Amino acid sequence: MQKKEFLYEGKAKRVYRTDDPACYIVEYKDTTTAFDGLKKEDLVNKGVLNNSIASLFFAMLHNEGIPTHFVKKLSEREMLVRALQIIPIEVIVRNVAAGSLAKRLGLTEGTPLNSTVLELNLKNDALHDPMLNQYHVQTLGLASAQELARMEELSLRTNELLQSYLKKRQIILVDFKLEFGRFKGEILLGDEISPDTCRFWDAGSGEKLDKDRFRRDLGGVTDAYAEVLRRLLEVK
Ligand code: TMP
Repeated sequence: MQKKEFLYEGKAKRVYRTDDPACYIVEYKDTTTAFDGLKKEDLVNKGVLNNSIASLFFAMLHNEGIPTHFVKKLSEREMLVRALQIIPIEVIVRNVAAGSLAKRLGLTEGTPLNSTVLELNLKNDALHDPMLNQYHVQTLGLASAQELARMEELSLRTNELLQSYLKKRQIILVDFKLEFGRFKGEILLGDEISPDTCRFWDAGSGEKLDKDRFRRDLGGVTDAYAEVLRRLLEVK
């Protein structure tokens, strides 16, 4: 597989074409951002850790029947993926009240949610990723009703799989964000699953093992990401 021209740069990743039009190479950067890019720092090795962590999650989900864009890990920072047409919707799944949900609904962070909460946000930093419902998705023509239903189904199944996978590793899956895209008439899970896009709490101490360490200036960001990777590799 040959790396061809640079295609797109996001906040945490770069995307390149390959000699196969159906595949892209994603390169994970050390750049870490929060608050729609307002807070930004390069954290040494963060991209390497996230590439490894996301590769393990995608491989597990693939084995459990979730269609994802992941093909294989190519190098420390590179992953080969299917060339998706990205749907600009962020699907957020929540098991425990935290972050913007805790703020919006006046819940104490850490309150378990009685039932899983699924939210849709428009992927648009300039508008601060506003929340969408199915009517907004329809009127903006972002996805068909059928596609949205499939995205929601895959998100809830991914939640079940990730929750039990992480529980075995003493990690509570508080919430996470997923993105999807179209590929040959199918909806595939795309983007990344990593401590940048999830909230992971240590099951014993409640210690944060995710990007909230960066957002809230708690320090030890990459140490926490490395601890997540260590636990994923430790339990087979
Ligand atoms: P929130 O509580 O800030 O809405 O975040 C919910 C989850 O989604 C959390 O695990 C972090 C993740 N997330 C992203 O990956 N990208 C984003 O742009 C936002 C706002 C949240």
